[in-house]
Amino acid sequence: MEVIIQPDVTAASQLAARMVARQLREKPNSVLGLPTGSTPLLLYRELVALKLDWRRVTTFNLDEYVGLGPDHPQSYARFMWENLFRQVNILRKNVHIPDGLAKDIPKFCTRYERQIRQVGGIDLQVLGIGTDGHIGFNEPSSSLASRTRIKTLTAETRRDNARFFGREEDVPHHVITMGIGTIMEARQVLLLAFGENKAAAVAAAVEGPITAMCPASILQMHPVAKIVVDEAAAGRLQKTDYYRWVFAQKPLWQRW
Ligand code: PGA
Repeated sequence: MEVIIQPDVTAASQLAARMVARQLREKPNSVLGLPTGSTPLLLYRELVALKLDWRRVTTFNLDEYVGLGPDHPQSYARFMWENLFRQVNILRKNVHIPDGLAKDIPKFCTRYERQIRQVGGIDLQVLGIGTDGHIGFNEPSSSLASRTRIKTLTAETRRDNARFFGREEDVPHHVITMGIGTIMEARQVLLLAFGENKAAAVAAAVEGPITAMCPASILQMHPVAKIVVDEAAAGRLQKTDYYRWVFAQKPLWQRW
């Protein structure tokens, strides 16, 4: 794992945007795995500003609420089109987002996994992290080998996400999410975490034991996982001096 501490959300998002931009330049037909939520908002704004060529890019989103269609204001499909896809030249046929209205959810999930395989797998998976350590919507106790499937949200996650819905009771109980096994097959992983409320989850994921009780901790087993955090989210890490030193010593060709 490479932990990169940046002074604030803007600097961290700009760095993450440069990493994504490098991926798209080096491989114009890249397959990206993408998150939603507050965390990637500035990253998406930066990517739009970079005016990259998205015509050959394929994307797979991590998750979606069951029961919400693409026109629902809180659906992740709507979020992605508003915050990124509509502002870049991506082709609609290359965008994949779990279908919250799928009639046969297990069949849909099997197809989603097949679609990822058919395009050769995900080159770069961008992730946020929940206050409970979830990645995608893989809540604590999720199988570390799980595949795309339906999950039930924890009370903590429903509370965290109530801010988008206005009322907690309006947050759906169920979601479709890529599995932890699916995420781990991506060739590179870039996890972003900002703010003090993520500090405990980041510390558990990076410096704690690998455990299904903190799903993000499985990234310790990923060969190319980068964790980009602001100072606040780094606040409970023990080895910050070491992470800063490693980043400062990086050869120029390895920087973004
Ligand atoms: P957030 O969510 O970006 O809205 O904090 C992250 C997550 O739940 O994975």
